[in-house]
Amino acid sequence: MAAKKRVIIVGGGLAGLSCAVKLAEMNVEVDLFSMVPVKRSHSVCAQGGINACNEIARQQGFSEWLHFDESALGGDFLADQPPVLEMTNWAPRIIDLLDRMGVPFNRTPEGQRDLRLFGGSLFKRTFFAGATTGQQLLYALDEQTRRWTAEGKIKKFEFWEFLYPVLHEGVCVGIVAQDMRTMQIKSYRADAVVMATGGNGLLFGKSTLSVICTGGAVSRCFQAGAALGNPEMIQVHPTAIPGEDKCRLISESARGEGGRVWVPKKKADTRAPNTIPEDERDYFLERKYPKYGNIVPRDIATREIFQMCLDGFGVGAGNMVYLDLRDKVKEIGREKVLNKLEGILEIYEKFVGTDPLAEPMKIFPAVHYSMGGLWAGYTKDEKTGGLKPGDPKNMMTNVPGLYTMGEASFAYHGANRLGANSLLSCIFDGLFGGPGIKNYITDVAPFDAGSMEDAPFRAVVEQEEAKQEHLIRGTGNENPYFIWQEMGKWMTDHCTVVRYNDKLQLTLDRLQTWKDRYKNVKLSDTGMYTNQNLSFTRALGDMLINSEAVLRGALGRNESRGAHYKPDFAERDDVNFLKTTVATWNAAADKVEINYAPVDTSLVPPRPRTYGKGTGGKVEARPSIETLAPQPSLAGA
Ligand code: FUM
Repeated sequence: MAAKKRVIIVGGGLAGLSCAVKLAEMNVEVDLFSMVPVKRSHSVCAQGGINACNEIARQQGFSEWLHFDESALGGDFLADQPPVLEMTNWAPRIIDLLDRMGVPFNRTPEGQRDLRLFGGSLFKRTFFAGATTGQQLLYALDEQTRRWTAEGKIKKFEFWEFLYPVLHEGVCVGIVAQDMRTMQIKSYRADAVVMATGGNGLLFGKSTLSVICTGGAVSRCFQAGAALGNPEMIQVHPTAIPGEDKCRLISESARGEGGRVWVPKKKADTRAPNTIPEDERDYFLERKYPKYGNIVPRDIATREIFQMCLDGFGVGAGNMVYLDLRDKVKEIGREKVLNKLEGILEIYEKFVGTDPLAEPMKIFPAVHYSMGGLWAGYTKDEKTGGLKPGDPKNMMTNVPGLYTMGEASFAYHGANRLGANSLLSCIFDGLFGGPGIKNYITDVAPFDAGSMEDAPFRAVVEQEEAKQEHLIRGTGNENPYFIWQEMGKWMTDHCTVVRYNDKLQLTLDRLQTWKDRYKNVKLSDTGMYTNQNLSFTRALGDMLINSEAVLRGALGRNESRGAHYKPDFAERDDVNFLKTTVATWNAAADKVEINYAPVDTSLVPPRPRTYGKGTGGKVEARPSIETLAPQPSLAGA
C-alpha cells in the first residue's frame, strides 16, 4: 500500500512557514526542518516592511501593475516578469491575510493600516509594524504553524541541519539531516522537498545576515545537481552599522520616514555633526536624484555612498556617512518617530552608544541579500501574463521534486531587489507555491517516497557520515575560521559594490588556495554533542563552492546591471547580457560552469534606469583595493 504523501520543508523562516501552513490547510503532511527555533530564523531580522498596493495608494494612481513595473525596473529587468507580476498581484491579499492573523501593523489615527515610503517608489506602498516587521510576521506565521502542529499536520524538527538531498533517478525523494544536539545523521523521505533556507551572507564574512546564513544548504543542492540562477547578484544595503563581529541593519525605513543622508562638504571634516551648519552639508542623494532623493533603490544609494567615501568625503575621511533623523524629530516630535522606528533606533543606541534622534547616525553599506539562488521554474498563464495557479512547475528547481522559495530562490528580484519586496516574495512563494506542490505529489511524482527501498537513502547517509568522519579525524593545521575570514575579506573587497575582472580573477585564483587549505582543516572540537565547529567547517566547504559560483557569474557578466557594477563595462548591455546566468556544478572537474538562459521581458520592455539622473548613478573612479597579506595558519600555535 502506498504510504501517505509527505512534503519536507527545509527552513523555518517566512517562506518555509507560509508554505507549511498552506500545505497543512490542504491536508498535506509536512516535516519542517530548521537549524534554529523557527522564531529565530533570519526573517526575524527584517525591519522595514512589506510592499503592496492598497486603496489609499490606488487613489493616488498606484496599482498592482505599477508595483510590478517598479519591481521589474528595480531589478534592472533581469527578473522573468510573469512571476513578478503574479507576486505583485497577490500582494494586497497577502496583507489582508496577515492582518487577519493578527500582525500588529501600524495604524493611522483613522484606524487604516499605515504606509511608508520605501526605495524605488514615489508612492507610499509599504506596510509596516514599527521597524520590526519581519519579527511580527514571523511570529504570526509561527502561531499558525503551531496550530497545525497541534493538529498533527506539521511536525517540527528544530535544531536539525539539512545535509543533502536524496535523489533517486534524478528525482528528489527526501533529505539527509543531522540532529544538532546528538549529532545523529538520519534520512527522511518525502514526495517533495522545499528549500527555503535563506541567503548566503557569510560568503562575505561580515554582513547584515544572521550567522547561520552560510548558504550551505543551497550549495549542497547545487552540488547534487540543482542549478543556480544569477548567483553574482548580491545586494549591498546602503545603511548598516559596521561591527567587529557582524554588520547591523539600519532599515531603509529610516529614509522612508524622512531620514536624510549627508556628508560634510569639506573633506576630512572632523567637527561633531551637530556643529556642522546646514549649508555646510552635502545631501548628495537629494542633490543627485531630486525626484527620489534618499529613497533611490539600494544599488544606487550604496554606490553613491561608497563613492563619497572613496572621494574622501566620508565622516572624518573614513568609511561612514551620516543618516540624520533630526529634521523629522523637529517636524513630528520624538514620540511619533519612535512609534515608527523604535526597533532600529534601539539597535543603534545599543551598539553605537549615541542617541540617533539627537545626533546623526554613522552608517556604511553592508552585504544584505542575495538576489541569486537556486534556479526556479514556472508556468506562464498566457491569459493573465502571470503564473498558472497550481502548476507543479512553479517554484520547482531543475531537479524534479525539489522546490525553492524565499531568498534561497533566484526568482523575482533580478539584479537588485527593492526594499520590502523580500517579505512579500517569501510569503507569496509559500502561499502560491503550495498548491503546485500538492499537485506534484498527487499527480506527477514518479515515485512513492514512503514505500521506496532504502538504498538511495542509506547511500546519502553514508556519504554524509564519511564527510563528517573525514572532518572529525582531520589532522591538518588549517583553522577553518581563518580560511573563512580571508575569503570574506576578498569577496567583500573584490566582489561587492565595484567589480573589476582582474580582481575577480585574482580572487578565483585565490579560491583555489582556500580549497587546498580546506583539505587540511583541523577541528577544534571533535566531540559528538552540539558540535558547531563541525557544522561550520562542513558549511565552509560548501561556501567555497558557492563563492566560486558568485565569482564566475560576476566574471562572465561584462556589463553593469543593478547591483553588479563594473566600471570597465559601465553600461547595461541588453544585447549581450539580458540573460539569466545559470550556474551548474561539474563535480568531476571540481568547477562551477556558467551558461545563460533568456529572460522573459514580455510584459514591460527594458528601459533606461535613471531615477531622474542622467548617468544612472554610476560611479566612475576606480577605488584602490588593498592586497591581502597571506593569512598565517595556526600551525604550531
Ligand atoms: O531596510 C530594510 O528595512 C530592509 C528591508 C528589506 O530588506 O526588504
